[in-house]
Amino acid sequence: MPMILRYVLAAFVMLAAAIFAIAPFTSTFVEQWARRDIELRSTLVFNSVRDELANLLAAAATARIDDLFDRLALDERLLAVGFCDGNGLLLYRSKLMPANFSCEKVARTPSPSFSTIVSDERSLVVGSFPIATDKTSGHLILLHDLTFAAQRGAQARTWITIALAGVALIGAALASVFALLIVRRWLQSIRRAIDDVKAGRNGGLNDDHGLVFGRQIHEALQELTEARRSIDATHVDWGPDTLRLALASQLPDAEIIVVSNREPYIHNHAAEGIALQMPASGLVAAIEPVMRACGGTWIAHGSGSADRDVVDARDCIRVPPESPSYTLRRVWLSDQEEEGYYFGLANEGLWPLCHIVFVRPTFREADWNEYRAVNARFAAAVAAEAKHPDPIVLVQDYHFALLPRMIRERLPEATIITFWHIPWPNAETFGICPWKEEIIAGLLGSTVLGFHTQFHCNNFIDTVDRFIESRIDREHASVTVSGHETFVRPYPISIEWPPAALAGQKSVADCRTSVRASLGLSQSMRMGVGIERFDYTKGILDRLRAVDEFLSRHPEWIGRFVFLQVAAPTRGKLAAYRNLQEEAERLAREINARHGYEGYAPILLIVRHYEPAEVFELFRAADLCIVSSLHDGMNLVAKEFVAARDDAQGVLILSDFAGASRELSEALIVNPYDLRSMSEAIGQALHMSEAEQRDRMRLMRDVVRSRNVYRWAGQMLLDASQLRKRQKIMLMASRKPKNAFIQGRFGRLRQAR
Ligand code: G6P
Repeated sequence: MPMILRYVLAAFVMLAAAIFAIAPFTSTFVEQWARRDIELRSTLVFNSVRDELANLLAAAATARIDDLFDRLALDERLLAVGFCDGNGLLLYRSKLMPANFSCEKVARTPSPSFSTIVSDERSLVVGSFPIATDKTSGHLILLHDLTFAAQRGAQARTWITIALAGVALIGAALASVFALLIVRRWLQSIRRAIDDVKAGRNGGLNDDHGLVFGRQIHEALQELTEARRSIDATHVDWGPDTLRLALASQLPDAEIIVVSNREPYIHNHAAEGIALQMPASGLVAAIEPVMRACGGTWIAHGSGSADRDVVDARDCIRVPPESPSYTLRRVWLSDQEEEGYYFGLANEGLWPLCHIVFVRPTFREADWNEYRAVNARFAAAVAAEAKHPDPIVLVQDYHFALLPRMIRERLPEATIITFWHIPWPNAETFGICPWKEEIIAGLLGSTVLGFHTQFHCNNFIDTVDRFIESRIDREHASVTVSGHETFVRPYPISIEWPPAALAGQKSVADCRTSVRASLGLSQSMRMGVGIERFDYTKGILDRLRAVDEFLSRHPEWIGRFVFLQVAAPTRGKLAAYRNLQEEAERLAREINARHGYEGYAPILLIVRHYEPAEVFELFRAADLCIVSSLHDGMNLVAKEFVAARDDAQGVLILSDFAGASRELSEALIVNPYDLRSMSEAIGQALHMSEAEQRDRMRLMRDVVRSRNVYRWAGQMLLDASQLRKRQKIMLMASRKPKNAFIQGRFGRLRQAR
């Protein structure tokens, strides 16, 4: 029932109850009023006939007296008239005098009196008026019928009830509308107060909002927010709203700019028109939901064949296409630039340098020059996009080691948070890079430099210590070069929670059925999966060999177990990647020839890009997932597998050399170089009871849920906000000569996590 109707009904019932309670008094009042009227009329009649009657009584003119009485009784209300003598005898009477009337029944007092008698079930008012002459004395008796008064009372009660009910109905409606208007105003005021607090606005609740009530709510909410701010980021349940709230409260009006090589949305020409693709990249998977929540500008290389066709004059496009919330600014690179900067220095130099997988890095002077030039072009793009002198710039990854310093030169007040998504090797290993000093100096243009693990932070600080002149504060994990201090912090990256790819998934049982059917497998077939870019750091060959080893040691699983490897082609221009694909395909053929037979192949290798929803469907259909990276900064595939299993089943086999193994310790942790132990882990996973799978999976899901990507971004942004505030205070202090002593080691970025 609509709210207004409920209000009207409630108010009406209350008013009606009140009316019915007072209605009976109406008839009593009307009856009393009629009786009083009769008494007055009786007195009037008596006064008008007193003299005439006295004369007639004195003359004992019986006929004329009877005539007088009959005339008087013609009145509608006057029923009968009579005369009682001093002895109580009814000497004279009009015609309609009730037969049972007797003078004994009425009071005959020296002054006029009234009484009520009942005759023939009628209520009669009897007026008795003393009258005396020389010859006789007695009382004039006037009988009035009171029945009409009772009828009048009933009528009055009916009409009054109807009238009051109408008034009640109108009154209830008016009161309800009025109450609703007040409540709506309150609600609007509460909503405005909440919005103001969310948006970090302060002055919103001044006179235009009017309500003191709203202001009080605003103040209460602000107190709550303040209390919440003081809670360490670890204890907050992070989600898009928390992130937005943290930004609004800690960095109000901050301008967010993200820079990465890979763009989150790629437009390509396809047979059916322009096709949109989201790349298979851990970096994109992590940053995209954050940008959706925060808004801002994402600057990236426009690499799609149709990218230029969809941007505006400033090379910008609003994304995501279904509900635009941030701007993607595309930077165009020539083939030569892409060759040197991306394929050359970034992927043939820094990628193998930082991943210890025994692939020799290649360093070419020409690549380095392109890398520098492209970094400078992105710095110019950041400066062009920045609307304020102090934006927050989130620089992503090893493609942009020189960018932080270049941005700092253009925008000295910017807060630059750089995140290195891959491992940082030990100083000795990094030392082989011919441009190590420039790379380190470039990164130290950052305000905060983040790695996935403390171990990588330590490696970086050791590398700085070894190769450039600096002041290192190990207690607070900061490095100062030429007066600029950079904080080096671990921020373990993660995925969004709940993952968007999980929405709309079929039940786990249905996923098992449909995936097996689509692969031509029997429904009882046990299945392991591995899904990633076709990269030599991922240990794809090693896990295929582990499956080979497992089937050789446990032939009873032949025909009962398959391993599905999905690999998205990547960096195909580079020989190391092409060779890997060829070798994996050859190895899969070999293993299938060794253990397979007509209608059964233990290794299913699919080389193509899978969209996130397809990846999640495979994860839900699998009995186990193998992440066997030889070296990995974090590895989000492991976290996605855990997130996909809302049935708390499935076993994760995880490399000790992926950063994720630090958080997901309930996985079966393996050394991917140790074939034997990897193959045993497969056996252990296939035999693991449902209860044990559930216990392990629940603990891992708790970790992935609470340490999600919003927390990752939130912690970096909160740290940045702390530094911004402290830098402002330092700036003020340095402008006041008296307070010069304050300078020096001033406030530190909170370490507690
Ligand atoms: C992985 C790494 C990221 C890297 C990305 C680049 O996701 O973890 O650190 O930025 O690959 O992939 P791409 O396909 O853009 O070369």
